[in-house]
Amino acid sequence: MAVRPILTLPDPRLRAKSAPVAKVDAHVRALMDDMLETMYAAPGVGLAAIQIGEATRVIVVDPARKDEPKAPMTLANPRILEASAEMSSYEEGCLSIPDHYEEVERPARVRVAYLDRDGAAREIEADGLLATVLQHEIDHLDGVLFVDHISRLKRQLIVKKFQKQAKREAEAAATAAD
Ligand code: NI
Repeated sequence: MAVRPILTLPDPRLRAKSAPVAKVDAHVRALMDDMLETMYAAPGVGLAAIQIGEATRVIVVDPARKDEPKAPMTLANPRILEASAEMSSYEEGCLSIPDHYEEVERPARVRVAYLDRDGAAREIEADGLLATVLQHEIDHLDGVLFVDHISRLKRQLIVKKFQKQAKREAEAAATAAD
């Protein structure tokens, strides 16, 4: 297992659509282990494979609070089967968009189909924080970020900030190389 670097905005890979897992084999399980270790080290409550540069449909989540025992879940090919009409709102953040938090409204309950660590087909019904985290991570598999669910103005402010920061870093690297 290894902690892997997490991609941040404006890395274009975050906008990529991830490919389905053909089979949950040792390679996929090793990826799941790396993702869990990376998520816990960050720390975060969820991570999608594309956030560590792997464009494959795998997510890991752990909605347990700090004072609760760890409750890791690994999901391959997660798919939302049903979403409630009732909505709920959480202040969301993302390890790929550090230090920015915004209220996002999503369906309050979802039913999700996925393959578990052993490749068995499973379903989970989630509400509360878990429902939000699952939707947030499944979005990543289609290149969708939580900032896509907020106002255009707020999104542009955040995206521009990361673009400027990346430009400054590139310029500093070029100067250092002179
Ligand atoms: Ni995220």
